[in-house]
Amino acid sequence: MAADDQIARAPHHVACIMDGNGRWAAGRGRPRLFGHHAGARRVKEIVRACPDLGVRYLTIFAFSTENWKRTQSEVSGLMKLFRRYIQREARDLLAEGVRVRFIGDRVRLDEKLVRLMDELELLTSRNDKVHLTIALNYGGRDEIGRATKRLAQEIADGKLSAHEVDETTLARFLDTHVLPDPDLVIRTSGEARISNFLLWQSAYAEYEFIDTLWPDFTREEFSKVLRAYGARDRRFGAVPA
Ligand code: IPE
Ligand code: IPE
Ligand code: MG
Repeated sequence: MAADDQIARAPHHVACIMDGNGRWAAGRGRPRLFGHHAGARRVKEIVRACPDLGVRYLTIFAFSTENWKRTQSEVSGLMKLFRRYIQREARDLLAEGVRVRFIGDRVRLDEKLVRLMDELELLTSRNDKVHLTIALNYGGRDEIGRATKRLAQEIADGKLSAHEVDETTLARFLDTHVLPDPDLVIRTSGEARISNFLLWQSAYAEYEFIDTLWPDFTREEFSKVLRAYGARDRRFGAVPA
């Protein structure tokens, strides 16, 4: 496929379940956090590849609502990594035209991290080249639960009538309300599950489960996965033309 053709058929919104950091580190006899650091470096490469590959929206799963079950030292190491990532990358993200947003429940995150997240969102809010969304303390069911609570409150306050509620109403209360639905969800590391990621939004997404561990996921492999997507036939329930 020619490069222009690939861009024309590129998914508008790609979501990645960045899995396999722990196994990547274990394979090198190193602690799990070593793998998370290598994974963070890969994020930069993949974000940078997006404009050339025609991807406008990239959403990455960084920490799930279930990941609190990990050891205290892994969780605190990850939180520190997120803080450092924001501090270190803010300037490049701004200069490269990346608009950053965070989805997930911020209530359980520490104040300093939340402040950095807010600042980065504000700093990059005028960018429009690539829309990077980082899912942090994110769970699809948790998100739908929080959205439902807010929707119910609007009904209780008389701002919304129960008769008007349909799927577009609920979508407006989700963390992702300003984002298009993902066209393609990629999960690395060979696991074929979605682990509570973008449950509502991925109703019609295409999925690619690939064996590569996230810290080994290169720009070239990303491009290959996008080419495979371009050859797919999406029908959305209709009969093919
Ligand atoms: C994904 O890698 C990163 C996070 C969930 C934070 P893992 O840490 O799940 O790596 P594996 O699956 O144990 O190899
Ligand atoms: C999913 O990976 C969450 C992230 C990539 C942040 P996990 O490694 O936590 O998922 P499971 O436990 O294998 O389902
Ligand atoms: Mg994992």
